[in-house]
Amino acid sequence: MSAIDRFRLDGRRVVVTGAAGGIGRAACAHLAALGAHVLAADRDQGVSAVAEEIRAAGGRADWIAFDVSDPDAVNAAQGEAVARFGPVDGLFANAGMSYEKPGAEHTDEEWRRVMRINLDGVYWTIRAFARGMLEAGRGSVVATASIAGVKAVRPELHVGYDVSKAGVAHMCRVLGVEWARRGVRVNAVGPGYTDTVMLAEVGIQQPAVMARWMDDQPIGRLVEPAEIASAVGFLLSDAASGITSQILMVDGGYSAA
Ligand SMILES: NC(=O)c1ccc[n+]([C@@H]2O[C@H](COP(=O)([O-])OP(=O)(O)OC[C@H]3O[C@@H](n4cnc5c(N)ncnc54)[C@H](O)[C@@H]3O)[C@@H](O)[C@H]2O)c1
Repeated sequence: MSAIDRFRLDGRRVVVTGAAGGIGRAACAHLAALGAHVLAADRDQGVSAVAEEIRAAGGRADWIAFDVSDPDAVNAAQGEAVARFGPVDGLFANAGMSYEKPGAEHTDEEWRRVMRINLDGVYWTIRAFARGMLEAGRGSVVATASIAGVKAVRPELHVGYDVSKAGVAHMCRVLGVEWARRGVRVNAVGPGYTDTVMLAEVGIQQPAVMARWMDDQPIGRLVEPAEIASAVGFLLSDAASGITSQILMVDGGYSAA
């Protein structure tokens, strides 16, 4: 295999959750450009547009709608995916949400909701799709952690989100070690402040917050979704065959500063 071919994903079937969002959509396009057959997944049928865009550009893509916070729906989606497309050998567990709230004011339901989607949902998704990979003895899983899972980010306030992302990072470390000799690698990407609609939910529309983020992120700008996507493509590919249990920060230096 040539040096360049090790980065390619020809013939791989890769599921991407949160595919209708900023990072997920960019990841779908990137993975398809690397040769993968992409199964774009999000919670409603709007995700069909992502698959259509990829097909219009000459790539291979289909879509499926399910809610990652419902374990029965995730298991059913896994069964449907395998029946329609065959065995899945790559997963980008990326669906997530955030909200702004002071630390002592989260309601029970708000706390449980962010855990259900960001932490339980990633686990339900990995659990469902990794089973086939473990049986086949081959596969690669990438989840989306965050700078908020490794540092106390400021000035935004979302302790539930931060804890959920720390959990995702550690889930990937632990599962990567557990499955290291079974042919399945598990890693995470750790985005810094990235230019998607999610930032609007936590303050990007406020110039002072934006200025603070620009100052804190050494690269001096937001990270682009395409920059997260290339890290995901790398981790899913054989170019990363020696890498498991790692959190690859794509944060313009934020976590080091
Ligand atoms: N944008 C950032 O600055 C940033 C930074 C660090 C981490 N992240 C993480 O990146 C991931 C992608 O976020 P984004 O920035 O692209 O935001 P986004 O809001 O554009 O995309 C999130 C996607 O997840 C989907 N989703 C949410 N809940 C779901 C559910 N229950 N079931 C299925 N799908 C669901 C949404 O429909 C949406 O399409 C998230 O996990 C987020 O926490 C984002």
